Amino acid sequence: MKGVILAGGLATRLRPLTWVTNKHLLPVYNKPMIYYPIQSLAKAGIKEILISSSPDHAGQFANLLKGGAEFGVKLYYSVQDNPKGGIANAIGMAEEFADRKKIAVVLGDNIFNYDLKPTVEKFKKREKGAIVFGIRMSAMESKHYGVIEIDKTGKVISIEEKPEKPKSDIAQSGIYFYDNRVFDFINKLKPSLRGELEVTDLNNFYLQEGTLECDLLDWWIDAGTSHDELLRANNLVAEKIRSGEL
Ligand code: DAU
Repeated sequence: MKGVILAGGLATRLRPLTWVTNKHLLPVYNKPMIYYPIQSLAKAGIKEILISSSPDHAGQFANLLKGGAEFGVKLYYSVQDNPKGGIANAIGMAEEFADRKKIAVVLGDNIFNYDLKPTVEKFKKREKGAIVFGIRMSAMESKHYGVIEIDKTGKVISIEEKPEKPKSDIAQSGIYFYDNRVFDFINKLKPSLRGELEVTDLNNFYLQEGTLECDLLDWWIDAGTSHDELLRANNLVAEKIRSGEL
């Protein structure tokens, strides 16, 4: 299984911090934000990781992260020409890198300490399908994310992107496992009203064929949504690093 970390986008919600700096290079406590998803994939035993970023900043990622030796992985770099093409557009650009293998995608602003290794091992044995990772939060908060509805057995019933009226308290995080058909599904996607190829539409292909699973995370933060969340991420991560939890 190979890893893909998405570090493109325009990060307009974090301006002026992001006028000249890519969001994923901003500090979260004692490291640049992008270090956390790389470390999470490395801990899960994923040895080859593609970092996808925007045209203006790709070189800065290579300057910082180099070949990946610091993390015990091999890093590759790609450029998403349209930085607002959408998450599924960015995933689509990883087709050659994936080389028909399954992929684990992590959004570059997602920080978590959930151990992905058991799920990676389980997913490697599955013939086909996808896994999304959810996190429980209040409905007031979950409506800012994709919202995952599951039944009593844990089966996924629906996923909606930033719904007005969330059907559950489970937000879709930015961690996704896909089989090698993901690129065929991406080719069928149409841009959403905000002009992006949406990861939620992609996940709905797997949902409709009944091969989508959902695992729940215990702790997760999307550091890139606002200045307040970035500050909260800094404080939480500092606490967790000091206590040895992260
Ligand atoms: O963080 C989890 C949420 O991420 C999910 O709950 C949503 O379902 C999913 O759509 C996404 O929501 P956002 O709209 O908040 O995503 P955002 O535009 O902030 O982009 C998330 C990350 O993906 C960010 O680190 C930048 C990267 N990205 C984004 C876009 C749109 C790219 O690399 N390329 C892109 O074209």
